[in-house]
Amino acid sequence: MTKCWFDYKTVIVTGASSGIGKLLSERLIRDHGCKVIGIARTESKLAAFKEELGSFSHKFDYYAFDVSDKEKWTSLADTFRAEGIKIDMLINNAGILPKFDRFDNYSLEEIDQAMEINFFSSVYSMKALMPLILESDTPAVINVASSAALCSLAGTSVYSASKAALRSFTDSVREEMRGRCYIGLICPGFTKTDIFRNQKKSSSKSQKAMDMVSTSCDRMVKLIINSIWKKKQDSVFGIDAHLMDTGCRLIGPYCSLASSKVMKLSGLEIFKDIYAE
Ligand SMILES: NC(=O)c1ccc[n+]([C@@H]2O[C@H](COP(=O)([O-])OP(=O)(O)OC[C@H]3O[C@@H](n4cnc5c(N)ncnc54)[C@H](OP(=O)(O)O)[C@@H]3O)[C@@H](O)[C@H]2O)c1
Repeated sequence: MTKCWFDYKTVIVTGASSGIGKLLSERLIRDHGCKVIGIARTESKLAAFKEELGSFSHKFDYYAFDVSDKEKWTSLADTFRAEGIKIDMLINNAGILPKFDRFDNYSLEEIDQAMEINFFSSVYSMKALMPLILESDTPAVINVASSAALCSLAGTSVYSASKAALRSFTDSVREEMRGRCYIGLICPGFTKTDIFRNQKKSSSKSQKAMDMVSTSCDRMVKLIINSIWKKKQDSVFGIDAHLMDTGCRLIGPYCSLASSKVMKLSGLEIFKDIYAE
């Protein structure tokens, strides 16, 4: 193991029960000797992950709660203080992807839920835990946004808004904390995880198209760890994410227009509801 600044640190990872958060936790534990405190709603999945870690399982503790419940964050901070648990790094990774759809088809409850989980949860966790994190020799917060924060696509109004809010919030807080805490932002593109479980079932044509632009979870986690290791401010990962980032820088809002035209012309059924008359 090559020496790295977060070796043997204590790290909170939200969304540690599946996908990027689970693999990231595993790598931090196995490759960097970290103690990981995982958070997600489904206790059985967290318990199964602890089991899977075998001889490393003592390096993983977990709390099962909804990250959008602000009181849970304050009581977690109180527990850490009471038990003398030090926190070095917080990785706000938990998130949901509402189904691709037109804005007018979302209920207000669905919109609230996406904003709460994808944006406000990071505000709550940082508000509650920042005083503890600042006591560390290597204080760090990493927020996982999305390429959707860089360029809004038709059908992702709510998801894009929640991730763009997280991006703006992170940029401001980073400047306020500069020199006191490392704050990183990760914008992944499509990554092969279960996050697409709520989307309409894809045909093999849609699936092929998605697979072509998607990054494997393993590769995404390697890129994220490398970015944290180098203390990068902003990281954009994945072919699709780079295309969106460059497109937006070059042609601004026309990037959303161009993407929309491509999505419509593709005829793929995951986009059909968005363009239905
Ligand atoms: N996969 C992609 O293509 C992609 C692209 C860009 C950005 N991202 C972002 O990357 C992050 C991880 O996504 P993923 O692909 O790994 O998704 P995933 O496989 O669906 O995992 C999401 C994790 O978040 C947890 N979670 C969701 N809602 C929660 C809540 N209210 N409270 C606590 N935990 C909650 C889930 O556990 P429970 O369900 O048990 O709570 C799960 O552990 C998300 O923020 C996502 O927006 C993903």
